[in-house]
Amino acid sequence: MKTKKSFLVTNSFSEKVIKWYELHGRHDLQWRKAITPYRIWISEIMLQQTQVVTVKPYFKKFIKKYPTLKSIQDASEDEILALWSGLGFYKRARNIFQTKEIIHSEHKGRFPKTFEEIIKLPGIGKSTAGAIMSIAHQIPTPILDGNVKRILQRYFSDGKNILSEKELWDLSLSVSNATNSNFYTQGIMDIGATLCTPQNPECSQCPLNANCNSAFLQVEAIKSKKTIDLKTLKIELSFFVADQEVLLRKIDDQEIWRGLWSLPHTNESSLKVRSYNIEKIKHRLSHRILEIDINLKKVTKKFIPKNNFQYQWVKVNDVENIALPKPIKKIIKNYGKKNFL
Ligand code: ADE
Repeated sequence: MKTKKSFLVTNSFSEKVIKWYELHGRHDLQWRKAITPYRIWISEIMLQQTQVVTVKPYFKKFIKKYPTLKSIQDASEDEILALWSGLGFYKRARNIFQTKEIIHSEHKGRFPKTFEEIIKLPGIGKSTAGAIMSIAHQIPTPILDGNVKRILQRYFSDGKNILSEKELWDLSLSVSNATNSNFYTQGIMDIGATLCTPQNPECSQCPLNANCNSAFLQVEAIKSKKTIDLKTLKIELSFFVADQEVLLRKIDDQEIWRGLWSLPHTNESSLKVRSYNIEKIKHRLSHRILEIDINLKKVTKKFIPKNNFQYQWVKVNDVENIALPKPIKKIIKNYGKKNFL
């Protein structure tokens, strides 16, 4: 690796980040107030694949219902999934359920304190464990999310010599030994999110510009080597309605939306009833495009299809607090409002 400054394993890097964070950091973010390992864990899991603006209201709602590790102890997976409804990547919610069970059974109900214990928990990788250690336990530990990768790549190298994952982790370790690891870690995240952006970085405002290899240069976003080939998955769902109640089915047979409630697949019931195609939705997930056809079927009597899935009838106007995928919830709520047939 050719880096101009690899010998300059600088404390001043972290000190500059800390000073900048004190003055310009996003101190208003709710998870940065009243820091506890539990709150940092929940926020870091929510922030794994989701932007800060989207996470804010979900974090608020989650913490209102479950302010502490103790308060979430008796929560069911369904209750946690319901709070996650609309945030996407539902595996994260299932991991939160499993983690709190593990913390109860293996850690006496206390959030673990060591990196080795934390990284064993479901849904927590090296970077998330690093963030929890640095922010909540104040033990300097490197992180390497997309923002930090971009900063290190630009600072230590340039747009042409792409650093490997291993090189980036080593560099992250070399700069993370800060006097205040909470401020350093949140600060480096904020510099990546607000100044060292993929396009048009604001180098003039950056506290690291004096020694940055890419400062004030035309920098390109680091290109991912993977090209994403999104496959399309077609699903046909039946929207059975009986007397303003809708038939829901728990999804436990497909990876997408597993653990949530949704409408039953059309082939699950042989009931012959007039069907109105009311919606075709195209929904983009991270790795798939879903094409969903929704057929409204009004029935006079509630019934439960005969198979091994779990079903329930729910009032159309009561779906708000049920863990449903966002587009499905929207359709049901819409139906409740307009009652269009
Ligand atoms: N992204 C991941 N963790 C974050 C945090 N603590 N603050 C802001 N953005 C983040």
